[in-house]
Amino acid sequence: MRIVSAQQLEKWLGNGRVLEKDGRGPKVVALDDGRFLKIFHTRRHPLLARLRPAARRFFGNAERLAQRGIRAPRVVDLFWLDRETGLSGCLYQPLPGISVEQLYRQEPQKIAELLPALADFIRCLHEHGVYFRSLHLGNIIRMPDGQFGLIDILDLRCRQGALGAWQVKRNFAHLRRYLERRKLTDFPFDALYELYGHPAHGQHGPDALATSGKAK
Ligand SMILES: Nc1ncnc2c1ncn2[C@@H]1O[C@H](COP(=O)(O)OP(=O)(O)O)[C@@H](O)[C@H]1O
Ligand SMILES: [Mg+2]
Repeated sequence: MRIVSAQQLEKWLGNGRVLEKDGRGPKVVALDDGRFLKIFHTRRHPLLARLRPAARRFFGNAERLAQRGIRAPRVVDLFWLDRETGLSGCLYQPLPGISVEQLYRQEPQKIAELLPALADFIRCLHEHGVYFRSLHLGNIIRMPDGQFGLIDILDLRCRQGALGAWQVKRNFAHLRRYLERRKLTDFPFDALYELYGHPAHGQHGPDALATSGKAK
């Protein structure tokens, strides 16, 4: 991977619009040419981060999703921002549209119309063997053509066959816990789960998992 200079980074940050940041700095920056810069701050040991740079994992996941016909950002460049510490980044073309979370916050009454298609999308992910640990409303984009796509795809594994029932439950438990954390408890989670094809209050439903602390 090539190394991007501090000056280039400064330029991107200076001309772009920071969309997301945390205590370690900017995470997602919309550049003035329409591309997005994603910076992968990592808590991994520098040796590990250098061996398997996050930017490359992100790129690999985008490829795996594309192979399965699932829309995700198109990565156009990968680079080191600080090779010593293992800080990497990438440039990608964003997906058009806004996240389901933004949609829900803007017009919560409209979410009911969207639920069947959202359930179908999540089922499609699972049938294609995609286990996306960060599967939540902020990382699912609703595109103008009515399709869904994924962003923030670092934390994702793909397997050959469909996910097993246990993994499906675990994935839904992540989503439920996310809704609780974001205080989106009015979101019709049970209806979504039911549409997906499971009883909303089954003995082995995600409720049990969400409180057991096992759903990491
Ligand atoms: N490919 C994309 N298409 C559209 N919007 C995006 C895209 N990637 C990021 N965004 C916007 O940037 C925000 C944060 O991006 P994300 O990759 O989820 O970073 P974070 O790690 O902060 O969650 C999203 O809420 C969304 O508004
Ligand atoms: Mg995100």
